[in-house]
Amino acid sequence: MIKIRWLGHACFLIEGKGTRLIIDPWIKGNPCCPIKLEELPKVDHLLITHDHDDHLGDAVDIAKRDNSKVIAIYELAEYLRGLGVKECIGANIGGWFEVDDISYMLTPATHSSIHGSPTGFMIKIDDFIIYHAGDTGIFNEMELLGRLYRINLAMIPIGGYYTMGIREAVMATMMISPRIVIPMHYNTFPAIKVNPERFKSIIRDLRPDIQVRILKPGEEMEF
Ligand code: NI
Ligand code: MN
Repeated sequence: MIKIRWLGHACFLIEGKGTRLIIDPWIKGNPCCPIKLEELPKVDHLLITHDHDDHLGDAVDIAKRDNSKVIAIYELAEYLRGLGVKECIGANIGGWFEVDDISYMLTPATHSSIHGSPTGFMIKIDDFIIYHAGDTGIFNEMELLGRLYRINLAMIPIGGYYTMGIREAVMATMMISPRIVIPMHYNTFPAIKVNPERFKSIIRDLRPDIQVRILKPGEEMEF
């Protein structure tokens, strides 16, 4: 069984095969996060898409507290090592690699960052493939990802301003062609205020085979 819990913005907590991982752990100061940092259970793997504050978040504190393995693009991983994080796995965009029975792949993202390129993540737990797009605009290679892999679940930013807005996110979702899509990175602050129901209704019209799940922060799904 795989459990996926949205902690608001781009932060997801995922459990599978006895491993707990967190993506973009912005908890303190995240107006949408329903839990306090002290309430976060021990995390084994910590995935960071890029170094912006709303993604790097509490990564260093959590990694030190839990001795988590931090997985990020090479330059960001090395930067975190310099801040005293012990277990840093610095990969790069390309192919799959395994960490404790879970497979990961870094994907491109069209965005900015200081430490290395911004990325998304593919996460494979048994045959279940999750794609977290990170902060990104739309780019054509998303279609390749959809052709290369049968993606079960995609997390896609829809808030605009810093990432794709709804129109681009709809097209991206159709290119990726996941079984289920969860919109993220919206309504955290005024600049990214959108109505996710619009995203849902356009997908329902154009691609009724793709299920849109609008989660409330804190809500959990099981597979
Ligand atoms: Ni960003
Ligand atoms: Mn962001």
